[in-house]
Amino acid sequence: MSNELYAVVGHPINHSKSPRIHGLFAKHTGEPVEYTAIQAPLDGFAATVHQFFESGGKGLNITVPFKEQAWALADRRATRAEKAGAANTLYQNREGQLVADNTDGQGLVRDLTINHGVELKGARILILGAGGAVRGVLGPLLEQQPACLTIANRTVAKAEALATLFADEADVTRLNACGFETPVQPFDVIINGTSASLQGDLPPLCTNVIAAGTVVYDMMYSSQTTTFNQWALDNGAVRVFDGLGMLIEQAAESFRVWRGVQPETAPVIDALRND
Ligand code: ATR
Repeated sequence: MSNELYAVVGHPINHSKSPRIHGLFAKHTGEPVEYTAIQAPLDGFAATVHQFFESGGKGLNITVPFKEQAWALADRRATRAEKAGAANTLYQNREGQLVADNTDGQGLVRDLTINHGVELKGARILILGAGGAVRGVLGPLLEQQPACLTIANRTVAKAEALATLFADEADVTRLNACGFETPVQPFDVIINGTSASLQGDLPPLCTNVIAAGTVVYDMMYSSQTTTFNQWALDNGAVRVFDGLGMLIEQAAESFRVWRGVQPETAPVIDALRND
């Protein structure tokens, strides 16, 4: 059987780990998948997508800076992609319509709950940031029925807007928004979804948000401990994780959406950790 073509589209794209991840999924599952990386021109995303599917491509992952455009371009959207306002997965349905999905939230939830054994139901969660990355994961996090979810952001109005957007998916008393300095009690789970570390910055949180049992998760990943996770370790956290597992879990869910086959993630996480 000849291989079917998949790709990730972004700009820039040369550092993407998706071809390596999907290459391992294809090898392990025996699925006839060939997966490449495509750099779309900044003003040519839609043309790149149309050309890919017209030439027989089966599915795309979408990364920075095109996730919102992918969402807008689609004819149909998976329920979990609708409120995310962004899509990381595209494919055509039997009618030839372009369908958008967002697997980032499920990737985060599976990494926390399955790979790291963290109970989110009933947990007090603090999430930092109110940009696209956080918006993309709020729905799946709320579905886990945390006791409360606090969105803290440098620009408080953006956190408030997200809390309003998702208010109908949560008891409003459980979903709240504030600035970084406001939370002063320990949380069960703290998730960093800001891009502060790209500028070498740390959100100015009160260290009381960390207790010995707090799980700290940085949606960024790095070969070294991330700046945020190092701050958490320095302030008493014991369990800190970075976003490599989320990256691989969102890829696995895209692969499942396209192929109907669930790839195993543990060997791929191990392989990438050791690259
Ligand atoms: P992404 O797609 O990564 O979410 P984004 O939509 O640009 O990117 O959002 C970036 C997030 O990181 C925002 O929450 C931003 O805070 P503001 O809403 O106040 O801009 C946050 N962020 C970026 N740089 C930061 C910094 N130096 N300190 C704290 N927060 C920062």
